[in-house]
Amino acid sequence: MDIKTDITKTGLTREEIQGQKQAIDDALQRLWSGKEDFTGWVKLPLEYDKGELERILNVADIIRGQCELLIVIGIGGSYLGAKAAIDALDREPGCPEVKFAGINLSASYHAGLLEEMQRKEVCLCVISKSGTTVETTAAFNIFKKVLIDKYGKEEASARIYAITDAKNGALRAETEKEGYTSFVIPSNIGGRYSVLTPVGLLPIAAAGADVRSLLEGAAAMAASADWDFHGADYAAARYLLLQKGKAVEAIQHYEPRLKYFVEWIKQLFGESEGKEGTGLFPAGLELTADLHSMGQFLQQGSQIFFETVLNVEQSPVDLTVPGGPLEGKTMDQLNKAAVKGVIEAHSSAGIPIIRIDIPQLNAYYYGQLIYFFETTCAITAMMMGVNPFDQPGVEAYKKEMKKEIS
Ligand code: PA5
Repeated sequence: MDIKTDITKTGLTREEIQGQKQAIDDALQRLWSGKEDFTGWVKLPLEYDKGELERILNVADIIRGQCELLIVIGIGGSYLGAKAAIDALDREPGCPEVKFAGINLSASYHAGLLEEMQRKEVCLCVISKSGTTVETTAAFNIFKKVLIDKYGKEEASARIYAITDAKNGALRAETEKEGYTSFVIPSNIGGRYSVLTPVGLLPIAAAGADVRSLLEGAAAMAASADWDFHGADYAAARYLLLQKGKAVEAIQHYEPRLKYFVEWIKQLFGESEGKEGTGLFPAGLELTADLHSMGQFLQQGSQIFFETVLNVEQSPVDLTVPGGPLEGKTMDQLNKAAVKGVIEAHSSAGIPIIRIDIPQLNAYYYGQLIYFFETTCAITAMMMGVNPFDQPGVEAYKKEMKKEIS
């Protein structure tokens, strides 16, 4: 069984969905043609370099032997894919804890990490495609100095891993000069589509999650990517709901391990679609917690949104309530009752609901999910008439911020 999409509660008809077939076929054709810029991720799960994967796994082994704390320094597409997968997936015991730096400009956040760095064996993995991002550059230079103070220059260099462009940027120049172990971010893959390159794979493997299964799952989804690809209904529904005035997609999950996966989706959709005055605003909700804060708005507030529910079908563990009015019920039964009850209540209030069924949360299905969302996102952005692979708005803020600094 694979990832499935259920759009029966969107209010959309089969004819309306079928009416988008040509646009989706055209988008898929463009994605698979190999002629469009930044589409290197499309065939990647089917054609990746096996030698490079072996090298990633070997380097991940070395990192595991060197440290108990791996600090990954990067932001946006150079951060969220790894963070999301490491949080979502089971990990081999005894692997380093992975923490992230350069994800904000808070001195107190980073001071806390630096303090932890003093007490533990540490490695750094710095990730930046451009090699010039302010958050990453600031954090890397601060953490590198502390690493050198702790281990000396030579040993520190052996504990620094860099993932960046093959040729361009200050980080590549430094990597070559200092001899850091490094990997290349392919030039035809943008940051938010890069989780299945070394950007995601090295930290995920070092953390002890199963990257081979991740790639197998993505490959299975890639192999099925034509009109009856599981994401086609999702892409068509998202596009049509935007046309009908639903400007916000409230993406909901019932498993806290998916919190950062939703953050990753938010970046993917937000940066790919939000331009030229169009795009769906991706919002993330953690249920059932947010039912006790946002539930009122969802049920009766202004109807500017539709809901996308990430429904994990099988929980790896369950807990039985031993006493009280819920005696004998299991936690997973209650969670499933919440999923059904919320869908019923919200759809009877007229809210369009898309349900995405995930058989279980393991590396294989997670790999499917990554490819499912990447492809759906690129298709919907193309249907909206925008370029899914640029981010002029992000560049604009970076430029303005640099002016403020200089
Ligand atoms: O998706 C993107 O391209 C961006 O979110 C970038 O990943 C982010 O701005 C970080 O850029 P860089 O990897 O160049 O440091």
